[in-house]
Amino acid sequence: MPAIISKAPGKTILFGEHAVVYGYPAIAVPIDAVQVRVTILPAITKNQSIIKIRNINWHEDIPFAELDEYDPIRISIENVCAHIKQKPPHFEMIISSSIPIAAGLGSSAALAVAITKGISQFLGTYLSNDEINALAYKSEKVQHGSPSGIDNSVITFGKPILFRKTEPISQIEIKSSIHIILADTGKRILTKEVVALVKQNLEKEPEFFKPILAEIGDVVEEAAKALLYGEIKKIGNLMVRNHIALKKLRVSSIELDRLVESALKNGAFGAKLCGGGKGGYIVAICEPASCERVSLGLVSDGATHIISTMIKGSKQGN
Ligand code: PMV
Repeated sequence: MPAIISKAPGKTILFGEHAVVYGYPAIAVPIDAVQVRVTILPAITKNQSIIKIRNINWHEDIPFAELDEYDPIRISIENVCAHIKQKPPHFEMIISSSIPIAAGLGSSAALAVAITKGISQFLGTYLSNDEINALAYKSEKVQHGSPSGIDNSVITFGKPILFRKTEPISQIEIKSSIHIILADTGKRILTKEVVALVKQNLEKEPEFFKPILAEIGDVVEEAAKALLYGEIKKIGNLMVRNHIALKKLRVSSIELDRLVESALKNGAFGAKLCGGGKGGYIVAICEPASCERVSLGLVSDGATHIISTMIKGSKQGN
């Protein structure tokens, strides 16, 4: 069996998180500046598969047989083997990732996608993107309860998408390249806990919270058009509108609000929390000339990590 290298990018949600869980649309883009890389080789030790984690701060070798039944690596491997009706092979799998973990940048979905692609190819089967996406979603469900599926979808297809739970995934046109900055609050909270909080709030006070979801839905519809026509200032304003709605939904935090304000005061067109919220990252967009000022401002206002990158416009070879 030949060695296989399989990669998957991170992601950010530009518009529509949380409302997407309730059937509204959302827009997500892949972040190629961070990625999971999975290398699969034939096993060196006969009859034993080994997983080697090789992240900057985490080096560990774990025999496959010792992974517990809910381990996301084990689940992804078993799901793909069941799908292609083959027994898990004996392999050595080296996993390295530059996607921050549990930070709303898609680390778990990227791992599921990269493993699904890698193991199927190692076994000589090339799956379609739809198959990879469905298998990655199955793995995500074990870890996250009832995710909308936006993370695995944008990461599998590797293109900006307009996602709605009940509809086929549609690729979205982005007229001009957009410079984005992702800034970390340094705080971590599991997305499923924040999703559960929103559910509780909706059950307790539907007349207050339901219109907020509808407002986010409207923002997403307008944002899809603004992205198509390259209206950068409008995109920025819509990000701020989206952040205000997420704040009303009670999924923001002092740190997230501080970073959003920092980006805006230093010249960003727009900024908002991204992903589950309560912690994790914000996403800001800015013109190339102000990216450095925005990044420096974010660091002095408490950001613990910055990713400065670009979403390529549809006409710029993306
Ligand atoms: O996985 P995260 O933290 O990027 O959040 C996903 C976005 C949510 O809408 C909050 C949840 C979901 O399943 O769509």
